[in-house]
Amino acid sequence: MKILEHYSLRHHNTLKLDVSADYFVSLESIDDLVLIRKQPQFSKLPICILGGGSNVVFARDFAGLVLHVNFLGQEIVAETDATLEFKVGAGENWHKTVLYTVEQGWWGIENLALIPGTVGASPIQNIGAYGVELCDVFKELSAVELASGRTVVFDKNACEFAYRDSVFKNKYAGQYLITSVTLELSKNYQPILTYSELEQEVSSDKAAQLRPKTVSDAVCCIRQRKLPDPAKIGNVGSFFKNPVVDANDFKKLHSAYPEMRYFKLENVAGGAQYKLAAAWLIDQCGWKGSRLGNAGVYEKQALVLVNNGGAKPEEILQLAEEIKQSVKNKFSLELEMEPVLIGQASS
Ligand code: FAD
Ligand code: EPU
Repeated sequence: MKILEHYSLRHHNTLKLDVSADYFVSLESIDDLVLIRKQPQFSKLPICILGGGSNVVFARDFAGLVLHVNFLGQEIVAETDATLEFKVGAGENWHKTVLYTVEQGWWGIENLALIPGTVGASPIQNIGAYGVELCDVFKELSAVELASGRTVVFDKNACEFAYRDSVFKNKYAGQYLITSVTLELSKNYQPILTYSELEQEVSSDKAAQLRPKTVSDAVCCIRQRKLPDPAKIGNVGSFFKNPVVDANDFKKLHSAYPEMRYFKLENVAGGAQYKLAAAWLIDQCGWKGSRLGNAGVYEKQALVLVNNGGAKPEEILQLAEEIKQSVKNKFSLELEMEPVLIGQASS
């Protein structure tokens, strides 16, 4: 285990912000974490837990210790004729894990193909795409509480999963280092094609029975058409959450903007709710393809902010603020940032 000082994080955040950390260490096991916790020089420093860096925005250099999670390994921990529990190390790459499961013919996470980052980060914001969220297949996770060093198991209820949210993103933010995640997958035919774009994409395969791999391939095709590849252009996927409004607010907005893109949420306690497409709202404010210094709005998806090369954190955050303000002025809606902001109070 090597502790690196004044370490550049440029290759550890997909927005490609040129920031550094005072200290950086890659952890391969709980033993590494125990060793680090024993060193008094780090006991008072701010800690940042980092996986693939695909959902973080560093506001500035990080004055503290970055714990890069690199716990590897995968195993089947329980199995029946129809289901299996698959335990995966937090540092494993999420997309590679999806590819492995679909190659085995297992159903469950095929719709979540090509989401960048690690398995350990997947519960943080309950990753979701194309009609599936992590919580749909989640069994439990193991984590180490940083303050005490004790290992804790969180089941689905304890995680309080919601749309792009969990206890690890709000009330326990930064307090637990997730070491492994156990998924409940199925061996039985169960494609989820509720997302109409995905249904259309696989429709050519209708004649044959779908395989998980067919679905994940279709998801990859859609994503490659719409989203920038972080290896080529810095980004963190959607920069804002899609706002959720109640029936009253929805009615007002919809009568003013009948062409507005939205999705009705079913089975919500306390009345109907509507998820509005933030991409559409931002697009209507004329932002798509625009630039502010070296920060920009992706030309094919208005919800994705990009680093056109050499963008500073303040340029990205200034652009985000101007977008928020214009959506507020036009639609009276407050956009909430989706990635985790590090080093500054959340905007
Ligand atoms: P990081 O960015 O490294 O960390 C994110 C947060 O999780 C931080 O707060 C960090 O402290 C915490 N964290 C990371 N690992 C651990 C751990 N082991 N223990 C405790 N805390 C930890 N997200 C979606 O939900 N759906 C999408 O469709 C989607 N598409 C994307 C497309 C692109 C092109 C990009 C760039 C991003 C996209 N994302 C999407 C966002 C991102 O990929 C996910 O949020 C992913 O789970 C982040 O993983 P990571 O390892 O990179 O996490
Ligand atoms: N749209 C526009 N203008 C644009 C882009 C899209 O008007 O520039 C419209 C589209 O026509 C569509 C609607 O907005 O009617 C929604 O667009 P899209 O299907 O691309 O989905 P999204 O709501 O922008 C969400 C997630 C993505 C996830 C996809 C697929 C959030 C914040 N984003 O995007 O997640 O991959 O759905 O399920 O919920 C992420 O979290 O980083 C992410 C990429």
